[in-house]
Amino acid sequence: MRKVTLGLVGGGTVGGGVFQAIKRNGKLIASRLGLRLEIAKVAVRNPGKGRAVAIPSAVLTTDWKAVVADPKIDIIVELIGGTTTARQITIAALKAGKPVVTANKALLSAHGEELFETARLHGANLYYEASVAGGIPIIKILRESLIGNRISHLYGIVNGTCNYILSRMRDKGEDFDFVLSEAQRLGYAEAEPSLDVDGYDAQHKTGILASLAHGFWVNPRTIHVEGIRHISQLDIQFADQLGYVIKQLGVVKQPAPAKNKPRSKNGFQPIQVSVYPALIAKSHVLASMNDVFNAVFIKGDIVGDTLYCGHGAGQDATASAVLSDLADAALDLKFGTANRVPPFVPHEREGWVTPLDDIVCRYYLRLNVVDRPGTFARIANLLGAAKIGISSIIQPEGHQGKSVPVILMIHDAPNRAMTAALKKISQLDVVKGNPVMIRVEQFD
Ligand SMILES: NC(=O)c1ccc[n+]([C@@H]2O[C@H](COP(=O)([O-])OP(=O)(O)OC[C@H]3O[C@@H](n4cnc5c(N)ncnc54)[C@H](OP(=O)(O)O)[C@@H]3O)[C@@H](O)[C@H]2O)c1
Repeated sequence: MRKVTLGLVGGGTVGGGVFQAIKRNGKLIASRLGLRLEIAKVAVRNPGKGRAVAIPSAVLTTDWKAVVADPKIDIIVELIGGTTTARQITIAALKAGKPVVTANKALLSAHGEELFETARLHGANLYYEASVAGGIPIIKILRESLIGNRISHLYGIVNGTCNYILSRMRDKGEDFDFVLSEAQRLGYAEAEPSLDVDGYDAQHKTGILASLAHGFWVNPRTIHVEGIRHISQLDIQFADQLGYVIKQLGVVKQPAPAKNKPRSKNGFQPIQVSVYPALIAKSHVLASMNDVFNAVFIKGDIVGDTLYCGHGAGQDATASAVLSDLADAALDLKFGTANRVPPFVPHEREGWVTPLDDIVCRYYLRLNVVDRPGTFARIANLLGAAKIGISSIIQPEGHQGKSVPVILMIHDAPNRAMTAALKKISQLDVVKGNPVMIRVEQFD
């Protein structure tokens, strides 16, 4: 049976997982592909260190350049993370005409266009199934399975750490800081959690999904990002009483043009690409996607509503996605079809992202107010002056003290008007502390 030789750069969580998975299921994969995958080299930083998955010392090296240059190695698998050396590895391999498999969303987010162009120029392919939503084959779904659809809506719970924290806050009534420390203890959150809890990891992934769904490479700087640090136990409880749960969502929407508003000059209807925590109705299917699970909900104009869920990270789930790419890369080598499915096809040259200020949605607003007559009227006046409608005001019982929480549910309003009104509200002497504004996602 023909052998396809792999050079891994990175033998940590994912690299170790790929090594282990090929050892475990190598025969099965070979029988399905008619090809045998063999790992020839694994480049790491420190070959002497103890590894959870043992890799034979004869295979280990510290010299990634030698791995890339080795003529016996057919496919390079970049699994070191970061954007500097990872970029060098990927470009060097593509320039050598070798297919590259990567799990690195930060690399794609920062340098995707350059890498795709390098791949195209050198007739090599770049595969990145493991970069978004781990074990869920979402890249293949968007690029291949749903190729016949225009994607109007895509909502992703794409960060398992945030999903774990928000689920546990709701289920156990614990505060953000405590749950974060528990997530770190259990290995669900990094010691430096910012990438996850401040939304940047979801930004990288949502940008990749938006680009594939809409055919132009979305600049990550155009994606509005909010983390979950400001979500308190109070918000979780009030949302629950109102029939909602709070989820961190990657949102990619292309609303139909309004009747009185024609499409933009070039015919492209701009898209919303955002990452934020949102109230979603308990009855929506995404509301039941809990703990570290990821889920992606996609609406296509032909297929309708679809949902994909599974483990979004971790050694085995991510290794499974890398194996899928390795199988594609190996088959492409076997049949000489290096660009059968190119990494990215920019078919929408005029695509652009709507500025956040123009986005219209509903809001949950929690204010801490002095409990005295006339307070609501002053808040309502400021909202009314900004043409913002209130759908309900709730003053939960059982709160006493100098100031008490009040919840306002706000009708559809543009972000620009809402943030300007909120600034004025927060300056009222009857409003104490920082107001909390959370979007309400209606999936329309
Ligand atoms: N972990 C997950 O669940 C997950 C999920 C999806 C995607 N990813 C992505 O997968 C990639 C790898 O993540 P990971 O969790 O496996 O990271 P990791 O556990 O920190 O492993 C990184 C590996 O890269 C090696 N390395 C670092 N710099 C190197 C260099 N200059 N030359 C050679 N080797 C080098 C390290 O060597 P040593 O072992 O000697 O330190 C280590 O083996 C990242 O892009 C990450 O975003 C991870």
